[in-house]
Amino acid sequence: MSNEEKKVFVEKKFSSITPRYDFLNSLLSLNIDRYWRWVTARELDNYTEGPILDLCAGTLPLSLSIAGRRPERYVLALDFCRDMLAYGRNRLNGQAAGRQIIPICADGEEIPCRNESFSGITVAFGVRNLSNLDKGLKEMWRVLRPGGKLVILEFSRPKNPIMRPLYFFYLGQILPRIGGWISGDEEAYHYLATSIRQFCPPEELAQKMGAAGYIKVDRRPLTAGIVTLYTGEKP
Ligand SMILES: C[S@@+](CC[C@H](N)C(=O)[O-])C[C@H]1O[C@@H](n2cnc3c(N)ncnc32)[C@H](O)[C@@H]1O
Repeated sequence: MSNEEKKVFVEKKFSSITPRYDFLNSLLSLNIDRYWRWVTARELDNYTEGPILDLCAGTLPLSLSIAGRRPERYVLALDFCRDMLAYGRNRLNGQAAGRQIIPICADGEEIPCRNESFSGITVAFGVRNLSNLDKGLKEMWRVLRPGGKLVILEFSRPKNPIMRPLYFFYLGQILPRIGGWISGDEEAYHYLATSIRQFCPPEELAQKMGAAGYIKVDRRPLTAGIVTLYTGEKP
């Protein structure tokens, strides 16, 4: 698949599973995804000045979590899948934090914002889906202010010799079946499983962040390494 073909495929798959996306996330992670996003949002608590960019924002769960922590904080929620954003936006009505969120439909590898616009950037379960990860990291760097923080939450693979085969069995046999059955698009959940299996290991992503210019790069496995939280700063 070329980069452009991957973009079309990814956008189409997320569009097709949009109505069941949040429910399936909670079901397939036994609701732990809420804790993962809470840990991610908390990372920006000390970065009080300026707006936050939530890249690959999807149905806005992380944007809401960030906005809910500080009433003065604005969050630009960017995603190239209009259906995901529209679905999330409909749920904002009536929520106080909803007024702080500005959804924008655009490509995360070509962010339509000026240099140094944001004091923080978050990406939850998004970098694995980018067609060109290095380009995406540089684009985030461009729009981040000096002193700003990048926080990435992404799936990884447990290293524990007991957990690892169990997790791979779950990815290969259980997740696509349940995901396909409930969402009606088994291919989307096969893609999810494959993309988790094939995504670069945490040390490589951390190294790419360093190569893109971020300093104080750190990574922390959560829930036995099923996901990893990465942080870095722009000097
Ligand atoms: C797994 S969802 C994550 C959504 C949300 N951040 C969450 O925590 O649930 C990945 C999202 O990344 C978006 N995405 C993938 N590649 C993108 C790109 N190049 N530009 C913008 N959005 C992209 C998809 O449309 C999808 O909504």
